[in-house]
Amino acid sequence: MPLYTGTILKRAYEERYAVPAFSVHNYAMIEAVVEEARELQVPVLIQIGQRAIRYGQMRSLQNHIALQAAVSPYPVVSHLDHCHDFEQIIEALRAGLTSCMIDASMRTLDENILLTRKVVEACHAVGVPVEGELGAIGGVEDDVSVADDEVVFTAPDVAERYVRETGVDSLAVAIGSAHGMYKREPSLDLDRLAAINRHCGIPLVLHGGSGIPRWQIQKAIQFGISKINFDTELRLAYLEGLKSGCERHSDDPFQAEQIAKERLREVIREKIHWSFPGGLV
Ligand code: G3H
Ligand code: 13P
Ligand code: ZN
Ligand code: NA
Repeated sequence: MPLYTGTILKRAYEERYAVPAFSVHNYAMIEAVVEEARELQVPVLIQIGQRAIRYGQMRSLQNHIALQAAVSPYPVVSHLDHCHDFEQIIEALRAGLTSCMIDASMRTLDENILLTRKVVEACHAVGVPVEGELGAIGGVEDDVSVADDEVVFTAPDVAERYVRETGVDSLAVAIGSAHGMYKREPSLDLDRLAAINRHCGIPLVLHGGSGIPRWQIQKAIQFGISKINFDTELRLAYLEGLKSGCERHSDDPFQAEQIAKERLREVIREKIHWSFPGGLV
């Protein structure tokens, strides 16, 4: 039986820290996450998102994560990010991912509940926890773009019904964060978050982590955020590092990639420190 990764978020929720979830796009990014998490001795989630899947990378990334997880002394969880349909959930379970998100938030509430419940049944049968989503988070996430005037914040009472009727283990909330970088400093609706937390009582997930300042992240953790997703800042740091690596080591792929990994690890280190406000566990 694989490690029931739902308990990792539950513990974070109870002890008021967040497990950072880093989106990865190649092997070097996986290694950078695992190496940094091991050095800081924290659990970590590694996300495979729709961009990587579109490039046909689900299985190869999962295999590489599994290799790293097998030798890591701290929990390394592979997570399917922003999945929109049931078939891809099954594909992910067969590939061996240990946590899944079903994002049917663009459907009607009843359809969202129906599909999410079906996903929860399938995933729980094999010990895999499920993250659901309610509301519309702003910004551009690989294949879905939500303009500012299309953002729909999560309603606490609807969230309560959604959680009760679907049996999800965690819930992604729309409270003012957005995918990608921000034009101006975001302002999270913490009162709404506190109300959602009171209504639902399960680990809550903050998407669009790139660009959110430390103080808002730490406030959000106080009100139930137990997982924070980071993607854009990681991609940018990695590519910036790779560019300077190629300039400095124009004939040595290993050395060039090392520079990229080091640059990425700096960002990961910062996000890990921000996610554990009471110090590292
Ligand atoms: O939303 C999450 C995806 O994994 C990535 O989003 O490529 O727009 O940063 P992004
Ligand atoms: P950012 O790209 O803003 O960090 O958002 C990541 C995310 O929410 C992935 O699901
Ligand atoms: Zn997201
Ligand atoms: Na963001």
